Amino acid sequence: MGATHPARNRSSLAHQVRYALSHPGRVPAHARRAVRDALLRLRYRHDHIAYYRAVMASDTARGAEAAVGHNPSREQWARIGRLQFDYLVEHGLAPHHRMLEIGCGNLRAGRLFIGHLDTGHYYGIDISPHILLAAQETLVREGLQHKLPYLVLADDLTFSFLPDGHFDVVHAHSVFSHSPRHVIEECFAHVGRILAPGGFFDFTFDRTEGEEHQVLHEDFYYRTQTLVDLAARHGLAARLMDDWERLPHRQSKIRVTALPERARTVGA
Ligand SMILES: C[S@@+](CC[C@H](N)C(=O)[O-])C[C@H]1O[C@@H](n2cnc3c(N)ncnc32)[C@H](O)[C@@H]1O
Repeated sequence: MGATHPARNRSSLAHQVRYALSHPGRVPAHARRAVRDALLRLRYRHDHIAYYRAVMASDTARGAEAAVGHNPSREQWARIGRLQFDYLVEHGLAPHHRMLEIGCGNLRAGRLFIGHLDTGHYYGIDISPHILLAAQETLVREGLQHKLPYLVLADDLTFSFLPDGHFDVVHAHSVFSHSPRHVIEECFAHVGRILAPGGFFDFTFDRTEGEEHQVLHEDFYYRTQTLVDLAARHGLAARLMDDWERLPHRQSKIRVTALPERARTVGA
């Protein structure tokens, strides 16, 4: 059986009570997040990007590793980065490819992609200036300055400042698990334009087979079919990656490619 499994409905009261009783040590942290959510929602109710940027500012102040993953240990940070990297290399990521990483964070996987790719072939974007500063620290720590990666602040997922047909691989790990539907849809509406002919876009998401839901406007749970249908509406083919399901990670992964008609348009 795969390591990934569809999540229970974390927003249900029954789940929350059960969880609190079985993990009493986690209640204070959850309470802190609930208070933060209530305060941030007063200010950013209508702007998810501004809201999540503020969440990242708060989380990064407590530690960049904790801001990009549930288990803040450096070992776990490195393990999840390696998992992402090994998977893409097994799927053909080669040094000459050009890669865009959406939500690059503090380069948990990015540092390995940067090391592997030719100079200037890695392009990381993120909505959080705080985590991009932490990404620079990772670059320095790893001695990767000579690879001249781009690390760019973004305010949306329209990619308007990036060229047509440029990226062989677009990658978003643990980004749509924090994104409401309109953010994902914006990405689908525009990612086909920047994919090179034959390129693909991989993203992870928190999968549910029950009711779609969100928890504290931070964690979003989707059915696979919802995302596949949404992609199709924007001329993209999407499929669940079964080989990722076997790996020790709690999210699922979908690969998106441009449907032939769009690939011809972009490649023309
Ligand atoms: C859980 S972290 C994962 C970071 C990185 N992908 C990794 O695996 O370490 C999510 C990252 O996505 C960024 N992010 C969230 N929503 C985004 C969006 N709509 N566009 C770009 N970045 C986003 C956050 O600021 C954060 O750095």
